[in-house]
Amino acid sequence: MSIEIPEGLTELLQSFTVEVLRNQPRDLLEFALQYFTQLKDSETKEASFGNEQNSAPRSGKAVNFIDEAMQIDSENGEDDDDDDDDEEFTGGLNGCCFPLFMFYNDTLKLAYFCFVLQVTYPKTDEQRYRLQEACKDILLFKNLDPEQMSQVLDAMFEKFCTEGEHIIDQDDDGDNFYVIESGTFNIFVKVDNAEKLVGCYDNRGSFGELALMYNTPRAATIIATSPGALWCLDRLTFRRIIVKNNAKKRKMYEAFIETLPLLTSLEVSERMKVVDVLTTRVYNDSQQIIAQGDLADCFYIVESGQVRITMKRSRTKTDQEEEEVDIATCTRGQYFGELALVTNKPRAASAYAVGSVKCLVMDVKAFERLLGPCMDIMKRNIANYEEQLVTLFGSSPEIEQQNA
Ligand code: CMP
Ligand code: CMP
Repeated sequence: MSIEIPEGLTELLQSFTVEVLRNQPRDLLEFALQYFTQLKDSETKEASFGNEQNSAPRSGKAVNFIDEAMQIDSENGEDDDDDDDDEEFTGGLNGCCFPLFMFYNDTLKLAYFCFVLQVTYPKTDEQRYRLQEACKDILLFKNLDPEQMSQVLDAMFEKFCTEGEHIIDQDDDGDNFYVIESGTFNIFVKVDNAEKLVGCYDNRGSFGELALMYNTPRAATIIATSPGALWCLDRLTFRRIIVKNNAKKRKMYEAFIETLPLLTSLEVSERMKVVDVLTTRVYNDSQQIIAQGDLADCFYIVESGQVRITMKRSRTKTDQEEEEVDIATCTRGQYFGELALVTNKPRAASAYAVGSVKCLVMDVKAFERLLGPCMDIMKRNIANYEEQLVTLFGSSPEIEQQNA
């Protein structure tokens, strides 16, 4: 049997495949419908106006192929270690004639190249400096190695926005991850079909990671409340680098996270999401981890080593001078630093490393975005603190104050 491939079919399907891989749409059919409708529209326009307007290359964007092999599992972002990408694809084509086989093979190779496509937006030194400043505290970038970080910075592009502009609409497909360089933004979440303001960003932070990480619709609407500047990372690069890196992290922490009493009430998939939002920090002997009186945005789980918890106390009621008294020790698997988050008060005690210490650091906002309010599970230790203080000092004014 011989099948003739119509002229243009290969190019048409290849371009479509590239767009699918770039955008990773959730609804492939809907995406195909939009893609081919737009293609037809532009073909009609070109036919009536000539195609000069559309032939100019897009400025400022260069596309390179890198020769690193990799695949991304579209559901969970996990790394597929099978290095058989170059093998010929025969599934479903048995008995077909040679030209059709070649066509499929080419498309698959193209698809393979798209997975390792590295997009670079050239930047001036000044732009790169601003970008690095904006990205330096971004949680999701913390575990990247220098090579990965450099690829991420290369791929990011600048977007200026105006007051009132919708950067993200809830339920849309995810296109980019955004890092804020400047500007204020409101966060709205639909509750019973009404938009509820749940928070805002003030000239720092990032958003838009959830839809890209978990292949879900956008979970919130983000609207600029001032003119602003954002740095955007496209979905494909985000998945290729950030999600792949997180898969490694999941593997590394899977066993440890399972043993944590704090998280036993969570489903396995929820525990994995917790791993996605944690960072690790290492402390030297005597190094301060928490300072009593500071404001809080994260809590800690001890991965290795010991942490000494101390509290400042006046020697006598009239004495102005304070001494630091040891009140507890945290070891592997135990958590600390949650009290200030639960009570919305400054840190009630200080924490110091004893020997070398490694902690998992949980950003509470990221944790809650994924799992809803986590305060209930974190309230468990509070009664113990009171007991500790009563045992040590005969009363617990700090806790009384905290709970006031
Ligand atoms: P994403 O779902 O991709 O798009 C909307 C983004 O809003 C989301 O990722 C988060 O980065 C961010 N966001 C901030 N606060 C919330 C919240 N309370 N619930 C959901 N998303 C939030
Ligand atoms: P936080 O107040 O955020 O920072 C200091 C941490 O020390 C506190 O959370 C608790 O996790 C921990 N801690 C341990 N024992 C006590 C105690 N008796 N009183 C207060 N905090 C304690």
